[in-house]
Amino acid sequence: MKKAIIFDLDGVLLSTDELHYAAWKSVADELGVPFDRQVNNRLRGISRMASLDIILENGGLSLSREEKEAVATRKNDRYRTLLMTLTPADVAPEVRKTLAVLKGRGLKLAIGSSSRNTKLILAQTDLSNCFDAVSDGTNITRSKPDPEVFLKAAAFLGLSPSDCAVVEDAVAGIDAANAGGFLSIGIGDAANYEKTDRRISSLSEILLMECF
Ligand code: BG6
Ligand code: MG
Repeated sequence: MKKAIIFDLDGVLLSTDELHYAAWKSVADELGVPFDRQVNNRLRGISRMASLDIILENGGLSLSREEKEAVATRKNDRYRTLLMTLTPADVAPEVRKTLAVLKGRGLKLAIGSSSRNTKLILAQTDLSNCFDAVSDGTNITRSKPDPEVFLKAAAFLGLSPSDCAVVEDAVAGIDAANAGGFLSIGIGDAANYEKTDRRISSLSEILLMECF
């Protein structure tokens, strides 16, 4: 039996992946580089600057370090403006109920997200109190597919990776979970990835898994 579940945030507990998409799209349009949902899928779980590198490489555009810093800041400003519109109602009832049932079974719950905006998102949506630990972009030096963010989450909980499962929508996140020795559970885009240990099509299916 597992003792804890570490959840990715964007695209797993909330549709903030759509807000990332909207913010990157407006910036890419201004730069005159192509950006679509296929490229956006490659950004799942990837840090802000690495995401910009992928967008620029895909569009065949090269920018100086200073220009890239300015573009990344502009994207984040727009993204945060969108985040300010989030409310507790943006968390699906199924998500809240799944977290509550898991907690009721005695499982520890944590966040493992590459985002430096994690705490703002949790506060806006009234999710902060649902988790025993939060590991995010502010406490890591290497982004997914490196397992650092999940290893830190497990350490914050005082557990070893083999005691924890990770729920992810990103291929990079599944690679990170597998590399860290966690049970990987894929949802959305990651449910089609061959290296995913378990696949779910909606979050409450976790409740049916025998290891919880
Ligand atoms: C991840 C998203 O959760 O956070 C990525 O899947 C994003 O798309 C990354 O680039 C970093 O987010 P932020 O909020 O720090 O720019
Ligand atoms: Mg995600």
